[in-house]
Amino acid sequence: MSDTIDRWQAFDGTWLEMRQMRPSDGPQVKASLNKLSASARRSRFFAAIAEFSDEAVHQLVAVDPRKEYLLVVMRRENDIEIPIGGGRFVQQDDCPNCAFSLLVGDDWQGQGIGRRLLKSLVREASRRSLRTMYGHVLADNRPMLVLARSLRFAFDDSDQGAEVVKVARELFDPASQRRRGLFQRLWRR
Ligand SMILES: CC(C)(COP(=O)(O)OP(=O)(O)OC[C@H]1O[C@@H](n2cnc3c(N)ncnc32)[C@H](O)[C@@H]1OP(=O)(O)O)[C@@H](O)C(=O)NCCC(=O)NCCS
Repeated sequence: MSDTIDRWQAFDGTWLEMRQMRPSDGPQVKASLNKLSASARRSRFFAAIAEFSDEAVHQLVAVDPRKEYLLVVMRRENDIEIPIGGGRFVQQDDCPNCAFSLLVGDDWQGQGIGRRLLKSLVREASRRSLRTMYGHVLADNRPMLVLARSLRFAFDDSDQGAEVVKVARELFDPASQRRRGLFQRLWRR
């Protein structure tokens, strides 16, 4: 069964596919991470990471499906999948809240991939009846702040100093949305 969540063409016509990450994606993810610019590494991990080790990649790729959701966007080259972006959320212990993060490869930024990823994360977190999604973003990361604002995330101070902004939004409960839609349809009759 296909586990494709979304499939579309990039600006240059390359077909891209979004799906959940698999543990077997580790080696390709490692290769892509090690090609990231210093700026992308800093924006995502808030640190200058020289080399992503097998252990570090394992930590990034292994998920606990009960409380985590990890998406990857792939392109194909000679029938090999190459990761070009990804996003995750992690549910906080015993709370209906989750923290997200996003990463799009340098050559693929600015063409709507981050937006698609974040929308899919919001959709899945809502489906799981989580209430709030938040993320920590460097205050000088304009693309991420603009993207977050456009998807209705509000900005707040973080507990990580002035360099880091907390972005957060409420999620909608799909069940209550359906109930409201039904009520409105009945009301209009
Ligand atoms: C931040 C990031 C995830 C955004 O993903 P992206 O695919 O480049 O962004 P999108 O193309 O989906 O753009 C979404 C919106 O952000 C804004 N945006 C994108 N690039 C921008 C830039 N360079 N300057 C200003 N705004 C920008 C635009 O308003 C855009 O909306 P539009 O499509 O209506 O024009 C991506 O740039 C990235 O991975 N950066 C490095 C790692 C990182 O910063 N991660 C976030 C930490 S949580």
